[in-house]
Amino acid sequence: METFKSIAKPFSFLFGIFLLFANAMFLANAITHIHDFVVQATPVKRLCNTHNTITVNGQYPGPTLEVNDGDSLEIKVVNKAQYNVTIHWHGIRQMRTGWADGPEFVTQCPIRPGESYTYRFTIQGQEGTLWWHAHSSWLRATVYGALIIHPKEGSSYPFAKPSRETLILLGEWWDANPIDVVRQATITGATPNVSDAYTINGQPGDLYKCSSKETVTVPVNSGETNLLRVINSALNQQLFFTVANHKLTVVGADAAYLKPFTTSVIMLGPGQTTDVLITADQPPARYYIAARAYASAQGAPFDNTTTTAILEYKTASCTTKCSTTTPVSASLPAYNDTATATAFTTTLRSPKKVPVPTDIDENLLFTVGLGLNKCPSGASAQNCQGPNGTRFTASMNNVSFVLPSSFSLLQAHQQGIRGVFSADFPAAPPVKFDYTGNVSRSLWQPATGTKVYRLKYGSRVQLVLQGTSIFTAENHPIHLHGYDFYIVAEGFGNFNPQKDTAKFNLVDPPMRNTASVPVKGWAAIRFVADNPGIWFLHCHLDVHITWGLAMAFLVEDGVGELQALQPPPEDLPLC
Ligand SMILES: *[C@@H]1O[C@H](CO)[C@@H](O)[C@H](O)[C@H]1NC(C)=O
Ligand SMILES: *[C@@H]1O[C@H](CO)[C@@H](O)[C@H](O)[C@H]1NC(C)=O
Ligand SMILES: *[C@@H]1O[C@H](CO)[C@@H](O)[C@H](O)[C@H]1NC(C)=O
Ligand SMILES: *[C@@H]1O[C@H](CO)[C@@H](O)[C@H](O)[C@H]1NC(C)=O
Ligand SMILES: *[C@@H]1O[C@H](CO)[C@@H](O)[C@H](O)[C@H]1NC(C)=O
Ligand SMILES: *[C@@H]1O[C@H](CO)[C@@H](O)[C@H](O)[C@H]1NC(C)=O
Ligand SMILES: *[C@@H]1O[C@H](CO)[C@@H](O)[C@H](O)[C@H]1NC(C)=O
Repeated sequence: METFKSIAKPFSFLFGIFLLFANAMFLANAITHIHDFVVQATPVKRLCNTHNTITVNGQYPGPTLEVNDGDSLEIKVVNKAQYNVTIHWHGIRQMRTGWADGPEFVTQCPIRPGESYTYRFTIQGQEGTLWWHAHSSWLRATVYGALIIHPKEGSSYPFAKPSRETLILLGEWWDANPIDVVRQATITGATPNVSDAYTINGQPGDLYKCSSKETVTVPVNSGETNLLRVINSALNQQLFFTVANHKLTVVGADAAYLKPFTTSVIMLGPGQTTDVLITADQPPARYYIAARAYASAQGAPFDNTTTTAILEYKTASCTTKCSTTTPVSASLPAYNDTATATAFTTTLRSPKKVPVPTDIDENLLFTVGLGLNKCPSGASAQNCQGPNGTRFTASMNNVSFVLPSSFSLLQAHQQGIRGVFSADFPAAPPVKFDYTGNVSRSLWQPATGTKVYRLKYGSRVQLVLQGTSIFTAENHPIHLHGYDFYIVAEGFGNFNPQKDTAKFNLVDPPMRNTASVPVKGWAAIRFVADNPGIWFLHCHLDVHITWGLAMAFLVEDGVGELQALQPPPEDLPLC
């Protein structure tokens, strides 16, 4: 005993020193990144014309944030533009820091012209590719950028370190002011004008007029492997993405790793990210990198153009002649190729067994889809230019979401202000019908409301998102703020609990923050409500948010010390 003590003492002393040292190292490694984001109008020339474009720090796309897991960010957003603005950090969990999430009138009031707000949050256990974007009107058409989270100092990727990393931000460009486009649609009640181009890192590429000189090139050396971080920042369109003659090895999506698999094409809904490895194993030359629409709604207008960049081998034999040759062309699926989109989304798996909740406390079914409102009495034909003199709308469980205007939902919740929202969002569709069939016209016009669904802290939630065929069926990218969730299954037709539950993957489903709900189909997700606050759930096609395809979860505080929403920051914008 005596001997043991005399050995143990100096050992525990040394161990204590080691712990102090390790702790200091850990603290030294977790950095706070401080940035200023100045939102301002900047002249940007694309497709032969120059538009006064809303940007961050004059950059389009905006600045890339690169951090390590565990780091904190402090971003002071200064609004020097003529519009209200807010910024959302898409996919960041924001544990107890909902005040920094960003959607206007949900977690904060807008930052008005001339004002500022500092977003403060910490990255907790996330690695991979995310992004940030404006969450006010349609400003995110041009106000967006990447948020790359590297593993903690001393940790590495679960795959061999690539020689290079390249960011691919897919975007959507209007040869007009996007705010004018949405305003016009709000007045007419019709669908907004479709975009004029898609972009890769802000450039349409050489298939568009006045654009070829600025086409983005991605250099590679023969034999090396490049990690492409692909982000769909487009406003209103799911996109197929490919690289001519090269295989893509998918290794992550929405800042979660995936079991690697190889494909020639990937599909991303707006809001989604996909990390792919590409090996330069082809004859040295120039190869097209290309993206174009996956348009699932039958007969609906869409932008059918193709954006390109060029993968350029920098091998000696290529430097002189390759740069003048035409790139090898890329083949993309047909616009309506749902089979290819589905083959991609249903192949995604987590790398190993994951803790999917199995005992469910909240079993929810939400319909997601469009609708048509009758022309309101007293409105003119000018305001009812939807099909047969109607106005477009959209809803979840037949509630078309209306944002509040005098308080944010989060402020109303935290301060107990009544009359801003009601907590009676339905757990299931109020009327059961053949969701994906030929829906009776009497069901097409939803109710309106500002309704949330209340969840107890820690409740285990299953949510089936059921697409409808009202007016037209289409694929909806549904994004949940403040959470990642497991997509345990997806399918076509109406969800059938008896038949479909048996097919759930409760072993290694992918974890994401945005689910592609198949056209005329459904997707089932599960998560644990461990982050108190108000969290927006919405279609990430901005045209559909405009029409009301949204709701919010109110997650109550828990009883533990670290289970309550933090108090609001002093500079929180008020309405
Ligand atoms: C939408 O498109 C129509 C038809 O091309 C055009 O007249 C109108 O100006 C466009 N609206 C906006 C806001 O660009
Ligand atoms: C795109 O749509 C236009 C009509 O809006 C059509 O004229 C054109 O052929 C289409 N292009 C492709 C590549 O499908
Ligand atoms: C896709 O579009 C083509 C015409 O462009 C049409 O022939 C085909 O039936 C469509 N497929 C589906 C699944 O809608
Ligand atoms: C519009 O009216 C026409 C003629 O009555 C009808 O055939 C069509 O189905 C209607 N469309 C919608 C979307 O209601
Ligand atoms: C859908 O139902 C309506 C009546 O509710 C009917 O007039 C129409 O023919 C049906 N359409 C199809 C494609 O079955
Ligand atoms: C939605 O609610 C409206 C108004 O209460 C009703 O007329 C309509 O039939 C409902 N539709 C569905 C799909 O529940
Ligand atoms: C900007 O936000 C304030 C609330 O903070 C609101 O009163 C005002 O109407 C908004 N302005 C616009 C142009 O939406």
